[in-house]
Amino acid sequence: MVAPSIDNDYLNIISTIANSPVRDKGYTRTYYSYPAKFLSQLPKELIKNFTKEGGLVFDPFCGGGTTGLESMLLNRRFIGYDINPFAIHVSKVKCTYINPNDLMHTLVNIENDFKHHFMIETSLFNSDEQYCLQSEIIYQIDKIFTLVATLEDDFKDFFNLALIHLIKIVGRRDFKLPPKNSDKYIFKLFYQKSSKMIHGMKELPKIVSYHPEFHLKSNFNTHLSNSSVDCIITSPPYKGKDIEYQELQIQRRSIKRSKRTYVISRILGTVPLSKKDLTWKGENGNLYWENSLKSIQECYRVLKPDRFSFFWTCFKSVAEKGQYLEQLKDSGFNLLKIIPVKLSHDRAASSRSTHHLRPTSMMQQDFLCITQK
Ligand SMILES: C[S@@+](CC[C@H](N)C(=O)[O-])C[C@H]1O[C@@H](n2cnc3c(N)ncnc32)[C@H](O)[C@@H]1O
Repeated sequence: MVAPSIDNDYLNIISTIANSPVRDKGYTRTYYSYPAKFLSQLPKELIKNFTKEGGLVFDPFCGGGTTGLESMLLNRRFIGYDINPFAIHVSKVKCTYINPNDLMHTLVNIENDFKHHFMIETSLFNSDEQYCLQSEIIYQIDKIFTLVATLEDDFKDFFNLALIHLIKIVGRRDFKLPPKNSDKYIFKLFYQKSSKMIHGMKELPKIVSYHPEFHLKSNFNTHLSNSSVDCIITSPPYKGKDIEYQELQIQRRSIKRSKRTYVISRILGTVPLSKKDLTWKGENGNLYWENSLKSIQECYRVLKPDRFSFFWTCFKSVAEKGQYLEQLKDSGFNLLKIIPVKLSHDRAASSRSTHHLRPTSMMQQDFLCITQK
């Protein structure tokens, strides 16, 4: 049998899509802009082209579930791994159908309950964070959190994501409460975001052929069998980049203060991961290559012979990029093509760069590496 191949015309198509400035829309795609996320067009195209319905797609660094959602919408099986509880949270919320009428009904109930005064036992924010945020913002967010905490699991997960998005917005350096009528203004933003999310939910199929699996676990040693995967589409951690996968920034230009907070973990009731585990920044910097090799070898093991993998990443130097490509080759992959990819707003590393649309150096050197087993 002749091994499947990719011709030059198709490489051009991939390059155009990978560099497309078109932002995500539709379904649950815009629920949350997870740091360094894929634009959905790319996995969508690759899944369609390199797998058949029922085929298995694997994303060992699944982040906010972009590849998982597209696989589900295209009737492919999907397995994703990520060690960050927030990544798994975003992925699951985006791929879990909840009746939109029930969601709307719940939102209206939250709104009614919000109108009542009640005591907040403890704040989500510590004193440092409180110093950066206005008291009105803290009060309204704590109130929303208290109300969402009483909901049933799927609903709680859904509205907690809207709440986390809200904190990202109010944490931006120039965010200001309107001087008058600020009462309930923060709640209104929460209501608007939740309504938009409910609108997106209306598009999600009620019943799917294959529900994506998201595993909160390292991909160094997965449960997948040898040669079982039809296509790998993934983006590993960036070497030496401190991407805010689990933090949110609270910034105030007026008082020249900025705080990275672990408020997401507090909302989800999870324990923040160490940088060493999450971004592979070891004491003496050598953890990256060790971890990268383990992941690549695992990808090679689980992929079917002749099948393709797509790794999107970037390095600060040509030497480091070379070392990564060597690891791919040493693990058995054939390197077919390296496609340079440009900055996209949706791939911002932090809540700050998302807001200011400011390129970060990480983006300028991104590349998509196409390999075959
Ligand atoms: C660049 S992001 C992936 C973003 C994803 N492509 C998306 O569209 O949202 C890299 C992810 O790798 C995860 N990660 C780091 N080490 C890991 C490991 N050992 N196993 C699985 N995931 C890991 C991080 O938590 C992070 O979510």
